[in-house]
Amino acid sequence: PQVCWLAPEQTAGKQKPYMYTQGQAVLNRSFFPGFDTPSVKCTYSATVKVPEGFTAVMSATSWEKQKDNTFVFKMSQPIPSYLIALAVGDIVSADVGPRSRVWAEPCLIEAAKKEYDGVIEEFLAVGEKLFGPYVWGRYDILFMPPSFPFGGMENPCLTFATPCLLAGDRSLVDVIIHEISHSWFGNLVTNATWGEFWLNEGFTMYAQRRISTEVYGSAYTCLEAATGRALLRQHMDNTGEDHPLNKLRVVIEPGLWGVNPDDTYNETPYEKGYCFVSYLAHLVGDQSKFDAFLQAYVNRFKFQSITADDTLGFFLEYFPELKEKGVDSIPGFEFDRWLNTPGWPPYLPDLSPGEQLMKPADKLAELWAADDLNMEAIEAVDITAWRTYQLVYFLDQVLQKSPLPEGNVERLSKMYPKISKAQNAELRLRWCQIVLKNNLEAEYHKVKDFLHSQGKQKYTLPLYRAMWGGSESARALAMETFSATAPQLHVNVQNYIKKILGLEVAE
Ligand code: BES
Ligand code: ZN
Repeated sequence: PQVCWLAPEQTAGKQKPYMYTQGQAVLNRSFFPGFDTPSVKCTYSATVKVPEGFTAVMSATSWEKQKDNTFVFKMSQPIPSYLIALAVGDIVSADVGPRSRVWAEPCLIEAAKKEYDGVIEEFLAVGEKLFGPYVWGRYDILFMPPSFPFGGMENPCLTFATPCLLAGDRSLVDVIIHEISHSWFGNLVTNATWGEFWLNEGFTMYAQRRISTEVYGSAYTCLEAATGRALLRQHMDNTGEDHPLNKLRVVIEPGLWGVNPDDTYNETPYEKGYCFVSYLAHLVGDQSKFDAFLQAYVNRFKFQSITADDTLGFFLEYFPELKEKGVDSIPGFEFDRWLNTPGWPPYLPDLSPGEQLMKPADKLAELWAADDLNMEAIEAVDITAWRTYQLVYFLDQVLQKSPLPEGNVERLSKMYPKISKAQNAELRLRWCQIVLKNNLEAEYHKVKDFLHSQGKQKYTLPLYRAMWGGSESARALAMETFSATAPQLHVNVQNYIKKILGLEVAE
């Protein structure tokens, strides 16, 4: 059941069925027999025969179509089992760079090509400059059916991505930069256990923001990082800072059934992990020296699976003067505390280069939170030129201040159709959260439409949590929407929603 079989209605084109696998974290054990742990790496090959009119793609270094609709794949580099991935459907491809193409259903291929034509190569080139050679040959992207549960999945050679990224304005490329960054952190140097998932995701967030800084500058990158920090804040507020999952090294208890590492998924390994890597960079004090360390780290541990002790041991070995100073045991910032104590990161990187973009958004959010709206001041702010992440940041501030005084959200909605009628998924998520927090029943249909249009876990679960924690009618909306959309959601996502709604989850 962990292999996803989609009926034609569950695809974008609605003509032909589709199948795909999602290995991370421990789903591939139901796809093929093997050592389904990130501590073991191997090469693989596969021969896949599909019906006429279908194409098969895999996370492999070579791809060959033979006669009789048979596809032969080889992955010539050792990888952990969770990175083996297969998709079969009515899919076609288009070149977007010297070593990159996009794959999608025919009805999406034009949009995919337009969104990424000529942009991927720069990310790869900057990644290589920073972290060393790109060892995987090609970097292609497969745009998945709308129910794909993640923004992106870094399957080597072939990232799987949500079609939500096809925003029309390249505004969501940070997800692609993230998945490209896994080419070094995660796919080359891999966490040996899912309890140290931050080694994959924290380093990748850092690498993503390094590439982003090189390509888009620090103002934009710090703004994006601030929205990440806001997600960590929301998560810790929801769970309480002391929650055992709010540390970088998570204890995943074995047992009869064990704990499913996917159930430990949250923002901590990403954003607290990012803070820890930023802290290491801060200890070094010189960006180019830290970049050189990252490159040496990848080179030292490539094709291996490691623990945080290996990472930190190598860090201290690489910078003996820091080791001598005892940087691993500075009171309040002990490496051990970073790894093993839950809570808010003891060190936060400086995001002030983003302030030129954040300040106007902060101010505008304050204006909208007032009891008596100062329309003159509000109208004086022109948001037409704001980038997507600036609007996202603004909406996060509005959400934090919600519920707003009676009537304000209605007016906000009318004033900014660019936001309240947005097609961009990141904006739609925030708008739906605001609608629910302010109990704006007149716009509940937007929540429903959004949840019908896609099944990404990070969009879906927060909205169900908000509905379930809301009014009677919000709860009814949750039940109604879930019964209509459940069949098209990934089984993991279905189960998490059931838990939120207090429904029974089958073992
Ligand atoms: N590897 C993750 C997705 C994942 C994590 C799948 C755990 C299964 C279990 C991927 O690289 C990821 O982090 N995607 C993010 C992108 C974002 C942080 C830019 C996503 O899907 O939201
Ligand atoms: Zn990731």
